[in-house]
Amino acid sequence: MCGIFGYLGPKTNSLELVIKGLQKLEYRGYDSWGVATDLNGELFVDKKVGKISEAKLDNFKDKSSNIAIGHTRWATHGGVTDINAHPHFSSDKTIAVVHNGIIENYQEIREELGKENFITETDTEVIPQLIAKYRKDNSFKDAVFKAVQRLEGRYAIVVLNVGENYLIAARRGSPLIVGVGKDEYFLASDIPAFLEYTKDVNYLDDDEMVVVDGGVEFINLTTGKPVKKRLINIDWQAESAEKGEYDHYMLKEIMEQKETILRAINQDTDEIMHIAQMIKDSRGCFLSGCGTAGKVCMAGEYFFSIIANRHVNFAPSSEFPVYHHFLRPESLLIIVSQSGETADALEAMEAAKKKGCKVFSIVNVEGSTIARQSDFSLHIKAGPEKAVASTKAATSQMALLLLIATAMIGELQEGRRLLAEVASQINDMLNPRFLNYIKEVAEKIKDQENSYIIGKAENYPMALEAAIKIQEVSYVHAEGFAAGELKHGPIALVTEGTPCISLVANDEVKKDIINNTLELKARGAHIIGISPEKHDVFDDWIKVPDVGIASPLVNIIPTQLLAYYIAVLRGLDPDMPRNLAKSVTVK
Ligand code: AGP
Ligand code: GLU
Repeated sequence: MCGIFGYLGPKTNSLELVIKGLQKLEYRGYDSWGVATDLNGELFVDKKVGKISEAKLDNFKDKSSNIAIGHTRWATHGGVTDINAHPHFSSDKTIAVVHNGIIENYQEIREELGKENFITETDTEVIPQLIAKYRKDNSFKDAVFKAVQRLEGRYAIVVLNVGENYLIAARRGSPLIVGVGKDEYFLASDIPAFLEYTKDVNYLDDDEMVVVDGGVEFINLTTGKPVKKRLINIDWQAESAEKGEYDHYMLKEIMEQKETILRAINQDTDEIMHIAQMIKDSRGCFLSGCGTAGKVCMAGEYFFSIIANRHVNFAPSSEFPVYHHFLRPESLLIIVSQSGETADALEAMEAAKKKGCKVFSIVNVEGSTIARQSDFSLHIKAGPEKAVASTKAATSQMALLLLIATAMIGELQEGRRLLAEVASQINDMLNPRFLNYIKEVAEKIKDQENSYIIGKAENYPMALEAAIKIQEVSYVHAEGFAAGELKHGPIALVTEGTPCISLVANDEVKKDIINNTLELKARGAHIIGISPEKHDVFDDWIKVPDVGIASPLVNIIPTQLLAYYIAVLRGLDPDMPRNLAKSVTVK
């Protein structure tokens, strides 16, 4: 995925404005960046390998223009080089394009347009070249319309044509939002890019194009007809998208869990009852998501089983389409996603819809593709999550699933009370002494090559999730296991001093997981126990509150902090781990 941003309006420092906006989208991709503008009828392009946060604004001070486009890249096609960075432009340097997505038929279009005319290895370069070809006999608008008809795959693009003082954007499968200010317009992959200028937005839907000049004109790409859209006022605060007093977004977002759970459970009772009934009425209910959201779904599977006595099946979204044999119109698919833009999750939805199933989604980004394409959607209201590692979104999603499970057995009020108690306990737990203690534990294990995490029942998915956190930000090899599985093979990996984290709740399986922890200890493991109660088997004990069935919500937080501190102590940037991007909009 990448971040794209375009500006048109009265401000003449458009290049600086676009760069500053893209710096807020850096979480979407950070291997290279670039900008383009129309400087007195000539195309000006500057693009470089590196992070956009390192761009020097002074270099653009003398380039006065009221129109600009820019990009921060997470490469899919073509290496990370200056030339492969976006914007890409036509051979005659009249058309410049920024693109998020993948053009699947780019090889075919390259052949058609003559391979020798291409200067980059990217799929994207075919877009400006195609538009330039059609531009010869068409208006700018018609040329873009014709060119996008030829594209297969997923895209959000913003196009600039030298000499035409307007921008055109189009989307299929990748996010694109239009910010509408006073006589000025913003086209961005995500809202934080322009939040300081306007809170009035239009969401572009798939197969739509928008022409931004003195106003906004939406056009359906299939019919060619205009589309009417309602301007939506979003209630985000600009500061909630900033790092504030924290060194990293990841730490800020971990700390926000003091408040986010309360926001997640503050839902309309009728809506919760409606979804509880949808699950009860369904014949075959599935939970699906990717990465952390997938582990949340697994925890949901346990909540539905333990609380509501209901069997719900989990499948990672990338695997879900193969389950189509089991789907029928009475089936229900529950999709969990922070961004609401993950390509694998969208594909799972498509597979379900093809079989006539209903789709319910839990998302953090309101107005995202997944939210809009679902039959019913709930929003966890966690505020922007910018660190690549998902933290506050995960606990909020779990809170909502747990709440729905209680609603299914007529105990919604009890569910609300329990989760309000969890929120207050987390508020208490996340104090400076607690953070310092976890930092000390991180210091002890930071140089180890391998680490293992075990959990049982509703904490088994948290063992898997803790492993994702440690892997993605600290690059330490980490693996999560169902505690009882160790003796069937993985225990052979444990040697003297290997850090093993044991997630122990006060539940019916406590005795079993303590025994499994003792088995690890007997092989020399260094045991970090995350538990409400101390036990002799723990070398280090991280105390968490006792919150009954909601234990995954509190047990996961110390592992988020451990991953964070291990990364920082190893000199890494936890907000921007290598090879990753915040939302994976490619398959
Ligand atoms: C989380 O730490 C990961 N970066 C990743 O697994 C993420 O949860 C996954 O890509 C799903 O994203 P989504 O919630 O936006 O759909
Ligand atoms: N395919 C384009 C490239 O590699 C865009 C990548 C993306 O959106 O992730 O440059």
